[in-house]
Amino acid sequence: MAKGRRFLIAGNWKMNGLKKDGCALAKSVAKSLKKAKGKKQPFDLLVCPPYTLLSRVADAIKGSGVKLGAQDCHVAEKGAHTGDISPHMLKDVGCKFVIVGHSERRTDHREVDAKAKAKAEAVIEAGMIAIVCIGETLAQREAGRFISVNQRQLKGSLPAAATAKNTVVAYEPVWAIGTGLTASPEQAQEVHAVIRAELVKSLGEEEGNGIRILYGGSMNPKNAKELLAQPDIDGGLIGGAALNADDFRAVAAGCK
Ligand code: PGA
Repeated sequence: MAKGRRFLIAGNWKMNGLKKDGCALAKSVAKSLKKAKGKKQPFDLLVCPPYTLLSRVADAIKGSGVKLGAQDCHVAEKGAHTGDISPHMLKDVGCKFVIVGHSERRTDHREVDAKAKAKAEAVIEAGMIAIVCIGETLAQREAGRFISVNQRQLKGSLPAAATAKNTVVAYEPVWAIGTGLTASPEQAQEVHAVIRAELVKSLGEEEGNGIRILYGGSMNPKNAKELLAQPDIDGGLIGGAALNADDFRAVAAGCK
């Protein structure tokens, strides 16, 4: 990782967690940072629980330095959108980050790049940081189209006002999500370098080099260190391994 960027280790809990286990997990994650207080950690820790737990998790991590995020949002501030949650509501409950354009949203809810972009812009407008997800499918990788697919998704999903302060990009190859298959450090770095080049091209040196690019897809305590050692991998978006506090901590310990 280049100087000037700080690792971000983000836990995407997806549709997991009830009151009891969700709060226990959040408290355990919070404790690890509290214990390390005084020692400067090279990473930020973020947890993104389901909506139902946001408020409780906000209380559980209070004062610990662990940050709170959500997994999705609507584009509007308020109004007649049954079942949706606005960025302002998320900010109100203590969120600092919102994930947008996750491949599971793209698949389950047919979200396209333009939607991810509009959501990212709404998140920024509300004063939070957007984590914009992109990534190719196995078929696209096998057809050798993974570079162009990621370039296209990035172009279409990146918010117009993206800066290093308000935007994070997450590269999550769909074939590696929840499958136990992980991109090798070289495979991940190859795409991260392409993303970096695109960011620099469209936002200039300072912002393009400042934006954090996370890797996501079966990141775990075993493979984290090597992935996080790559020059353009600035952290992880972690699903399965974020549901166990020890594993989550062990992934973060890979940040050097
Ligand atoms: P995984 O999920 O770590 O379980 O593969 C990552 C993600 O989808 O964000």
